[in-house]
Amino acid sequence: MLSKKVTELLNKQVNAEFYSAYLYLDFSNYYKDEGLDGYSNWYYIQAQEERDHAMLFIKYLQQNGESITLEAIDKPDKEYKAFIDPLNMGAEHERLVTSMINEIYAAAYEEHDFRTMQFLDWFVKEQAEEEDNADDNVKKFELFGSDSRSLYELDTEMKNRVYTAPSLVLD
Ligand code: FEO
Repeated sequence: MLSKKVTELLNKQVNAEFYSAYLYLDFSNYYKDEGLDGYSNWYYIQAQEERDHAMLFIKYLQQNGESITLEAIDKPDKEYKAFIDPLNMGAEHERLVTSMINEIYAAAYEEHDFRTMQFLDWFVKEQAEEEDNADDNVKKFELFGSDSRSLYELDTEMKNRVYTAPSLVLD
C-alpha cells in the first residue's frame, strides 16, 4: 500500500516521462528537418527511453494495486535558433527530471516506504547517466560543432546510437 502523496507523485512522474519523450521527439524532428540525421536518431532513441521510463512507473503503480490517471501531455513549445539549442535544453530538462525523482524519493523516505525507495534507486542512477550524456552532448558540440567537417563527424557518431531496453524489468 503506497501513501496518497507517493502515489500522486509517481502518477505525476508518468506524465513527466511521457512529456520528456514528446520533447525529445520534437528535438529529433527538428534535427531531421535540418538534415542532421545522427542527432535526430539520438533523440529518437532518447524518446523511446523516456516512454520506457513512463511504462516502468505505470507498472510499479499497478504492481502496488494503484490505478493510473493519464493526464494530457503538454505540447513542446521550444524554439530552436541554433543546432546547440536542443542540446542545452536537454541538459536543463534532465536536471529538472532529477529534481522530480529526488522529490519522490524524499517523500518515500519520510514515510519509510522502502519499497518505493528501492524502485527509485534505478532511476537515481539512470538520472546521473542521463545528465552526464546530455552534458557530454553540449560539450562536444561546443568543441567541434562550429566546423562543418567536424559537425559531420559528430552527426555520424550520433547515428551509431541504438535502442536498448531498460535494465530494470518489472513483471
Ligand atoms: Fe526519464 Fe531522461 O529521464
